[in-house]
Amino acid sequence: MKILGIESSCDETGIAIYDTEQGLIADQLYSQIALHAQYGGVVPELASRDHVRKIVPLIEQACEEAGLSLDDLDGIAYTAGPGLIGALLVGACVGRSVAWALDKPAVEIHHMEGHLLAPLLEDDKPEFPFLSLLVSGGHTLLVDVQGLGDYQILGDTLDDAAGEAFDKTAKLLGLPYPGGRHIAELATQGDDQRFQFPRPMMNRPGLDFSFSGLKTFTRVTWENEVSLCQSDAEKQQLKADIAACFQLAVIDTLSKKCVRAIKQTTLKSLVIAGGVSANVSLRETLDKLGQKHRFKPYFPSPKYCTDNGAMIAFAGALRMQHEQGNEPAADDQGIRAFPRWNLEQLS
Ligand code: KG4
Ligand code: ZN
Repeated sequence: MKILGIESSCDETGIAIYDTEQGLIADQLYSQIALHAQYGGVVPELASRDHVRKIVPLIEQACEEAGLSLDDLDGIAYTAGPGLIGALLVGACVGRSVAWALDKPAVEIHHMEGHLLAPLLEDDKPEFPFLSLLVSGGHTLLVDVQGLGDYQILGDTLDDAAGEAFDKTAKLLGLPYPGGRHIAELATQGDDQRFQFPRPMMNRPGLDFSFSGLKTFTRVTWENEVSLCQSDAEKQQLKADIAACFQLAVIDTLSKKCVRAIKQTTLKSLVIAGGVSANVSLRETLDKLGQKHRFKPYFPSPKYCTDNGAMIAFAGALRMQHEQGNEPAADDQGIRAFPRWNLEQLS
């Protein structure tokens, strides 16, 4: 079965083809980062228009890469939510239209389910059930994953998502958008012990997160300390130290909640996915904690941490395979997009 996957929920147009026998046979990605960087964040209308420009050429390139024509496809999977409504609608309209034209099935994919399943694209992959930490620009979720589509949210963020906190902190320090990888880079030159950043919600029971206080703490620290700097070099060191302390606080909070959830659920595998899972320090910390607390962490390879079409094609293939042996889900063939969509509704 060969499934074309379309991802257009935010600022990346991702098109891929997953073959259930050969694996991933095409993977095309166009990032709009340069377009939005000048505004310091994603401009939704510009994102939609750029998806319109790029989506068809990328589908053609993906078919060429796989040596296939559209007729060879067995189905289309597209991200139907959550995300920016205009951006989602581009993928939904194109996905549905291609499916109609080919008289093939189309399946709506939840963007976070795509992230959650991405580590299953790797050779060393987890088996169900597992615990999943989903950390992206819009979400911070701890999910008990019992099987495909069987998801229970154990923890959520009460305010900013982890990626959003990285992006806002980066903006405050004058780093480019999206800031996560720039903070991570700068943090390598910083002293993560210079300031003691708070660890929000750690002293309370439960598995929820809160990151907006960290953002305020960063701002106050920066404003208090920058006026004391006597040279550009000192100012640059201050930025690096703040980046390192901020990153340590986020990683410490995320990883300790993972350990708490592992103990609570007695699950033995932890899948970490979404853009922030590309963070090397987070990966190293969870590797160490995995050895100490006897769970195995699984990460997607770095290019499948951030948004991509491969995870959507793969999720679509799993869902279509699953439906072959079951009653197909009701499909009115409508073109729909869900800016908000609870992962638990898939169950
Ligand atoms: O999953 P993703 O590509 O898009 C959403 O679904 O939101 O995640 C993007 C987020 C951004 O906030 C970005 O700053 C963050 O992932 N990110 C990182 C790193 N690479 C990307 N955060 C921390 N460290 C990184 N290396
Ligand atoms: Zn994402």
